[in-house]
Amino acid sequence: MIDLSPEIRPETAADHDAIAALHDHAFGPGRFARTASRLREGVAADPDLSLVARVGPRLAGSVTMTPILIGAEPALLLGPLAVDPDFENRGIGRALVRETLARAAAAGHRLVLLVGDGPYYGRLGFHPVSPERVRMPGPVDPRRVLVAELVEGAREAAQGLVARAPH
Ligand SMILES: CC(C)(COP(=O)(O)OP(=O)(O)OC[C@H]1O[C@@H](n2cnc3c(N)ncnc32)[C@H](O)[C@@H]1OP(=O)(O)O)[C@@H](O)C(=O)NCCC(=O)NCCS
Repeated sequence: MIDLSPEIRPETAADHDAIAALHDHAFGPGRFARTASRLREGVAADPDLSLVARVGPRLAGSVTMTPILIGAEPALLLGPLAVDPDFENRGIGRALVRETLARAAAAGHRLVLLVGDGPYYGRLGFHPVSPERVRMPGPVDPRRVLVAELVEGAREAAQGLVARAPH
């Protein structure tokens, strides 16, 4: 029997080409202009929290976490999250998000922000934030700006402009 259960582990340099191909397919070239992408420009992703799901030799999915600031508070930006269409609807997206959130909490992080679909991420602990409290540095549908607390009360502490983490 072939084992089709995904192995989830931090990404390595050997995964980068396959991740780039997956992102091209899932989001297209326009993705770099998006506000969330701009927040990642020039900032290294967190190597312990940016994960891949492998099924045998295939890259089935990937999730990236990048440090950001919300006002003066450090936080993490989750995304892109992408799953290869051949592997969709098997729980791989959910497993990647749950695993990176668990690792982020264990590493002492407090809050995770993303721009994404509320119905998908709502089931994973994300909630919309008011655009008056958390201001994005570029155009974005405010209903898609979501946060998940890793520590109770972290949402209250984080207010202001979302910005690139200093590097
Ligand atoms: C969205 C994505 C990451 C989901 O990955 P996946 O491994 O197929 O998802 P899971 O198996 O964990 O979850 C599947 C469930 O989520 C639902 N779902 C998938 N995409 C959804 C969306 N955009 N909004 C709401 N629900 C969604 C499915 O209908 C399914 O529901 P069910 O469990 O009730 O049957 C994947 O489809 C993908 O890469 N899409 C293209 C890129 C993208 O949109 N990334 C997310 C940015 S918001």
